[in-house]
Amino acid sequence: MILGVNIDHVATLRQARLGDEPDPVMAATLAVLGGADGITLHLREDRRHVNDRDLRILREVVRVELNLEMAATDEIIAIAIDTGPDMVTIVPEKRRELTTEGGLDLKSNLNNLKESVKKLKDNQIPVSLFINPDVTDVDRAKETGADMVEIHTGPYASARGEEREAEAGKVEDAIKRALSNGLAANAGHGLDYFNVKPVASIDGLRGLYIGHSIVSRAVLVGFEKAVRHMRELIDRAG
Ligand code: PXP
Repeated sequence: MILGVNIDHVATLRQARLGDEPDPVMAATLAVLGGADGITLHLREDRRHVNDRDLRILREVVRVELNLEMAATDEIIAIAIDTGPDMVTIVPEKRRELTTEGGLDLKSNLNNLKESVKKLKDNQIPVSLFINPDVTDVDRAKETGADMVEIHTGPYASARGEEREAEAGKVEDAIKRALSNGLAANAGHGLDYFNVKPVASIDGLRGLYIGHSIVSRAVLVGFEKAVRHMRELIDRAG
């Protein structure tokens, strides 16, 4: 099972000071040392976290699967074609959202998506579509010519009790439908150390794409060490 680590939130921390640390490129190399099979970054139209420099350097240094999350706009499609990530995941993008809020609206955007998928595939870039856990949307994704889907696990992650079981069922059904349509099936969004297991055990799943929970844990497990380094510097200075 592929673990794709999303490093956007490392860039978010950097952008809090508009400086150069923490560098998402360094985070990506450490993620690979930790066992990541892939690195994901979302180059947003407003460049609120990851920027063009990050994508360029990551393309040079990342030897595992580089997955570019992107909206299907002319600008970003041109950048993807120019950079050549190992795959792209097309997501809906809204300027005001805190994070990607839902899967693609395939019904309204089918023709645009077909065109975008074709442009990317004509340039040998495999395409995944981020979709809601809905079998009809899986069928529509197949119609676009995409190679893969990523099933949105956000509703599963935020549900509780019986509702969570129902949401897990929808994720599993969507994955099964993708496989029977000949699409590779990934899943992601909102997965963390407490809820990942039931999703990771779904048969036939190709990969999981996880960001926020890993970056959050990294801040905590590294905090004590970081303070100790500063303590030592200050103590030695005096
Ligand atoms: N997959 C997609 C398509 C996403 O947009 C995101 C968030 O950027 C993720 C996975 C990772 O979600 P999270 O940060 O909640 O793990």
